[in-house]
Amino acid sequence: MMKAAIMGYGTIGSGVAEILEKNRDVIAQKAGQEIALKYVLDLREFPESPVADKIIHDFKVIEADREVGIVVETMGGLNPAYPFVKACLEAGKHVATSNKALVAAHGTELLRIAREKGVNFFFEASVGGGIPIVRSLYRSLAGERIEEIAGILNGTTNYILTKMEKEGETFGEALREAQDLGYAERNPEADVEGWDTCRKIAILTAMATGKEVNFEDIHTEGITQITDTDFKYAQVMGTSIKLFGASRMEGDRTSAFVAPVMIGKDHPLYSVRDVYNGILVKGNMLGTSMFYGSGAGKLPTASAVVADMIEAAQNEACHVPMGWSEERLPIEPIEKARFRYFLRVSGLRKDGEALAVKAFGTADVYEVAGLEEFGLLTGEMTEEEFRQRAEALKREGGPALLQKIRAEL
Ligand code: HSE
Repeated sequence: MMKAAIMGYGTIGSGVAEILEKNRDVIAQKAGQEIALKYVLDLREFPESPVADKIIHDFKVIEADREVGIVVETMGGLNPAYPFVKACLEAGKHVATSNKALVAAHGTELLRIAREKGVNFFFEASVGGGIPIVRSLYRSLAGERIEEIAGILNGTTNYILTKMEKEGETFGEALREAQDLGYAERNPEADVEGWDTCRKIAILTAMATGKEVNFEDIHTEGITQITDTDFKYAQVMGTSIKLFGASRMEGDRTSAFVAPVMIGKDHPLYSVRDVYNGILVKGNMLGTSMFYGSGAGKLPTASAVVADMIEAAQNEACHVPMGWSEERLPIEPIEKARFRYFLRVSGLRKDGEALAVKAFGTADVYEVAGLEEFGLLTGEMTEEEFRQRAEALKREGGPALLQKIRAEL
């Protein structure tokens, strides 16, 4: 029997406890031994909960208890998650976490300690909620050279964008609903500013390349600038707007970004709606595969944590090679990345079209009835070239740009 502890009895932690209880038999069968919950660490008491008799408030109890073989970290944030997880690994305990902030910031060190101590640091739930993407990268796609990853990696923002698109809701209304449903991070900025997606694409890119990725090297934009007007154009154009985390590996060059992207109906991620996540992975032999499922929420995310616990129990006495090395992967500056751009241009089409189209080269033009503005879809160019062209338009007294959304159309 393997004894387990959960640190953090919030949405995910309570989900892990629930699954350990409800699926006890199937878990024991697959793990090759029973996994029994011994402690739940939290600052709060939960007198009415099924784990009331397991609640403790002192981390040292877990650290010092040699019977505890696996520790689940579902506290979120870096402090005290980081020192606690580090101490657990150093004490020779396996750790499974759902905490992408922790993995992105300290994964390299925690993976090294796990290797040195012959235990495992697993983090399937840190990316894509219940979607088995991390394990797929180190197991099922182990023979591939990964060339590209593009994903809708944040359930909260996907939920918000879907509500704005389908029901004409404001950003604030949709955010509140997402929070009520338990999808959003404690700090909604982490979701809506793209920081959560940034950490997730950093983790996936590191998994794909076997090298450390500094998430701060990834150009990151969130969805706070996306408006209902943008979706009116999307409707006219037959497109959608999604928050992408993406990376491309070409030889020894890697680019990566997080930003809203306009995509068409033929894009595989077009139909990924609500809290669902979708991740495209392109391997040099396999071609493109798509992973789809519940990207956030209590039980889907907890299910991924439990799968990690099972793999740890199966490998109780050994370290499973996975993750990345201490070698840092250089990420190219965003200025070199190439995109098409959807632009909204101020003023009537008849007054500004000629100047705007000339500034960006050939472009398709769109109008939404009743608006004193028009939309442009440019050809492909680098970010640097776009910046220069936009500056030239301004210098020449051309119409103002109201919006810029990268497009994969
Ligand atoms: N806030 C995150 C999301 C939780 O909405 O995707 C899952 O990582």
